[in-house]
Amino acid sequence: MSEPQPVVSMRRIGKKFGGVTALHDVDLDASAGQVLAIVGDNGAGKSTLIKILTGVYQPTSGSIHLDGKPLEMNSHSDAKALGIDAVYQTLALADDLDPAANMFLGSELTRSFMGIPYLDNKTMRLEAVRVLDERLGVKLRSMDVATESLSGGQRQAVAIARAVYQPDLRVLVMDEPTAALGPQETARTLKLIKVLRDEGLTILLISHSLDDVFEVSDQIQIMRRGRRAGLVKTEDSSPKEVLGMIVGAAEDAA
Ligand SMILES: Nc1ncnc2c1ncn2[C@@H]1O[C@H](COP(=O)(O)OP(=O)(O)O)[C@@H](O)[C@H]1O
Ligand SMILES: [Mg+2]
Repeated sequence: MSEPQPVVSMRRIGKKFGGVTALHDVDLDASAGQVLAIVGDNGAGKSTLIKILTGVYQPTSGSIHLDGKPLEMNSHSDAKALGIDAVYQTLALADDLDPAANMFLGSELTRSFMGIPYLDNKTMRLEAVRVLDERLGVKLRSMDVATESLSGGQRQAVAIARAVYQPDLRVLVMDEPTAALGPQETARTLKLIKVLRDEGLTILLISHSLDDVFEVSDQIQIMRRGRRAGLVKTEDSSPKEVLGMIVGAAEDAA
């Protein structure tokens, strides 16, 4: 079977922070309807790589292509406009607002009555339920609650709902989405990732949990000391092999 044409490609990405070289000539390819996991020890360069992909950092060298076309991004809003977004472990949710208000934070729906605009809370709530429940399969007991009263997994779902509500979203990056979650909520989040994958999104999953990685990913990119130390098909690999690449077992033996 031939490999699908990648949606996003990063070529020979280098990144220096002053005297520190965080990334050396890193390549990355991710396809539609696939989960690419990115693994590696702390400091391996995972976050820097995906911050470059999401426009937060600019690379020192190298290029990024979307559907084969070179990209120029100067900010995260540039990336969002191109359909590349991220959900971070430290969720940027407003705790005192309800889930719908969080989903539409910064892009609130409005209507106007006799020329006076007002927030269309009713439609926002209906839309929030449509995305959370019908699309993501996440049922909240009530939509009339402060987001801080939700469980970690539900908060995660609200953050994901906000990202996937963008109609032209192509690439979703998730940096340690299950790090703060218990086993049940982790299972729910992994299910949600599969739903989005099946919708055809390109998903990049950074995770320390090889259990999670082996459960949901199609391919695994192993980062080590700012380089791509390996790229494997999940079904052809094993946690033992990937762990060996993370710690550089082969390199150390040589
Ligand atoms: N903003 C920054 N300023 C200086 N050095 C940084 C910055 N961000 C990351 N680094 C360095 O780049 C390297 C890779 O870090 P990072 O991408 O966060 O790794 P990971 O996400 O795999 O833990 C580390 O040596 C880290 O100290
Ligand atoms: Mg990181």
